[in-house]
Amino acid sequence: MPANRIAEHVEANRTRFLDELKNLIAIPSVSTLPEHDADVRRAADFLVGQLREQVGMPRVELIETAGHPLVYAEAMDVPGKPTVLIYGHYDVQPADPFELWRTPPFEPTVDGDDVRGRGAVDDKGPMFATLKALETLMQTEGKLPVNVRVLIEGEEESGGASIAEYVKSHGGALQADCVLVLDTAMIEKNMPTISYGLRGIVYAEIIARGAGHDLHSGVYGGIAPNPLQALAWVLSDLKGRDGRINLPELYKMMQPLTDDERAALARQSELQEAGFLTAGGLKELPGEANYSIAERASARPTFEVHGVCGGFTGEGAKTVIPAEATAKVSLRLVPNQTPDAVFKLLAKRVAELSVPGVTMEVRDLHGGDAVLLSLESSALKAAATALETEFGKSVTYAREGGSIPVVALFDEVLHAPVVMLGFGLPDDNLHAPNEKFYIPNYYAAIRTVANFLTLL
Ligand code: BES
Ligand code: ZN
Repeated sequence: MPANRIAEHVEANRTRFLDELKNLIAIPSVSTLPEHDADVRRAADFLVGQLREQVGMPRVELIETAGHPLVYAEAMDVPGKPTVLIYGHYDVQPADPFELWRTPPFEPTVDGDDVRGRGAVDDKGPMFATLKALETLMQTEGKLPVNVRVLIEGEEESGGASIAEYVKSHGGALQADCVLVLDTAMIEKNMPTISYGLRGIVYAEIIARGAGHDLHSGVYGGIAPNPLQALAWVLSDLKGRDGRINLPELYKMMQPLTDDERAALARQSELQEAGFLTAGGLKELPGEANYSIAERASARPTFEVHGVCGGFTGEGAKTVIPAEATAKVSLRLVPNQTPDAVFKLLAKRVAELSVPGVTMEVRDLHGGDAVLLSLESSALKAAATALETEFGKSVTYAREGGSIPVVALFDEVLHAPVVMLGFGLPDDNLHAPNEKFYIPNYYAAIRTVANFLTLL
């Protein structure tokens, strides 16, 4: 039985597998901050080394791009067997605010059943589990049961522009019968979850400019425009207190959900509500009335402000009218709302809301399409079997609120069914201080992926 051999191998190597993951988490591969460019490359080199020496893939390459490198590997030596493309990302979100971490974000720390560190769950733990699954199969069976391509990007957390470019121009070289993605979550601990949807995103920066330089607020107060105030008006006009985004066309673009889908999401909401409250440290979950929690968190568009900057924020008081103010914002999108079209709606609305004496520039930082996958593929069935064997429970199918920009391209360009297996937990703090990965899920992911590939 390969499943037994797989489990035994994982058991015999559990300490080394965890130590290697910690070595990867220790590399601060923050893709959006230029000061970490060398670290991002170091993480890519680490994976190249792993794929060559530990996994033993016959072909391993670092692919240069206009941004951060891609890591590619393949073992295409079982003719007649299907080909699986395994995707993941080795970059991470910025770790600030640093003072809120219980242990430094890039000094991975085991705490009970968790390993804590930036990127532990998103996506270093789950992604690295796929490599350890390949290694386990190579060492227990001597070869892989299917043909495998591995493609790992270093820009997912900053929009994924380079992998998008690569998939569009090299789609032929990535031919696969299915794509495996480990970068999503379980809806609850011990509830094996396959995700069939992701939201899209458009991320923008709004820059408001007033006077040519900062002004004395006594001399100019009452006569000069204030770009920070103007920005606040624009931001509050973009979304009402009822949660409705003031871009009416946005809602016209989306496909309405069927009654069955809405009812299923409402049922799932009951299960998820307590988890959202505790994991988020929240007292309530406000948002659009008449939509369930799960629907609002995965099947409705959103508008969020991520940061506002401008004027005097130091200690004490300074009486100044700032010359400039900026805001970082994004909209999460659902199918049929394309990032380009939605960016245009946003830019047009901001222009309409403009204030005398203040110019507003809206910059498009990145975007990605939403995905909604069919549940019919045989790859998905094999994945469900592998998960059910591992957890001894039937699989839950979920739509995710988060985004993985390249997944829509896998669907459109490669025409291959995508399988997204979740190993994150609701309280893993992704993108937040004290991010962690539940270690039992690391080993579960390794075994599940190895068994999935065997079942194919
Ligand atoms: N792993 C996440 C996506 C995700 C989050 C899936 C939560 C399921 C649940 C991914 O790495 C991510 O965070 N993506 C970014 C993409 C963006 C920066 C383009 C996101 O969703 O913010
Ligand atoms: Zn992320």
